Amino acid sequence: MPSSVKDRPTTDHEYVFLLAKTAEYFYDIDAIRQPHVTFTEKSKMKGGRNHFGKVNGTPEEGKNGGNANLHDGRWDQAFHPLGRNRRTVWEIPLSKFRDAHFAVFPEKLAELCVLAGSPQNGVVLDPFLGSGTTAVVAQRLGRKYIGIDSNPAYCAIANDRLHQPTLL
Ligand SMILES: C[S@@+](CC[C@H](N)C(=O)[O-])C[C@H]1O[C@@H](n2cnc3c(N)ncnc32)[C@H](O)[C@@H]1O
Repeated sequence: MPSSVKDRPTTDHEYVFLLAKTAEYFYDIDAIRQPHVTFTEKSKMKGGRNHFGKVNGTPEEGKNGGNANLHDGRWDQAFHPLGRNRRTVWEIPLSKFRDAHFAVFPEKLAELCVLAGSPQNGVVLDPFLGSGTTAVVAQRLGRKYIGIDSNPAYCAIANDRLHQPTLL
């Protein structure tokens, strides 16, 4: 929601709660991995600082092929090939579909939760469906969905979104 405060910093984050009914639960860590920092363009420190012994260096360009930076030089074990475990701060632009409902999720936010929290053909429940973002994403990602909203007008918007032809 917009916040135009003048006596404190503007809040620009929200919390996502991961709730589970049992101590062991479905969680697909690989589905939402993120790039290793040391392998991204950003990490090459384009400001010219030395990184692993070279300007704009990557780990492999470091001393002894980068092995000096690890205790045993096992790059294959130190860096998961699919990326590092997703971090808890996600930077996601606002949704483009904001006119119809006051608080539409960005699809990316729902996407990360659906991918990590449900298997293919699993069921995703959103008890506060609003304009239907969670269900739209669940459908696109091959999950079933159940959506609930106390406002019939929002249910109608969600239904319309869910039954629009998809571009393949
Ligand atoms: C923050 S919005 C959800 C927006 C949604 N994520 C989207 O992308 O459009 C919360 C929704 O919860 C609905 N809501 C509030 N109280 C409810 C209740 N007791 N039962 C069901 N829905 C409720 C509101 O009508 C509103 O659409």
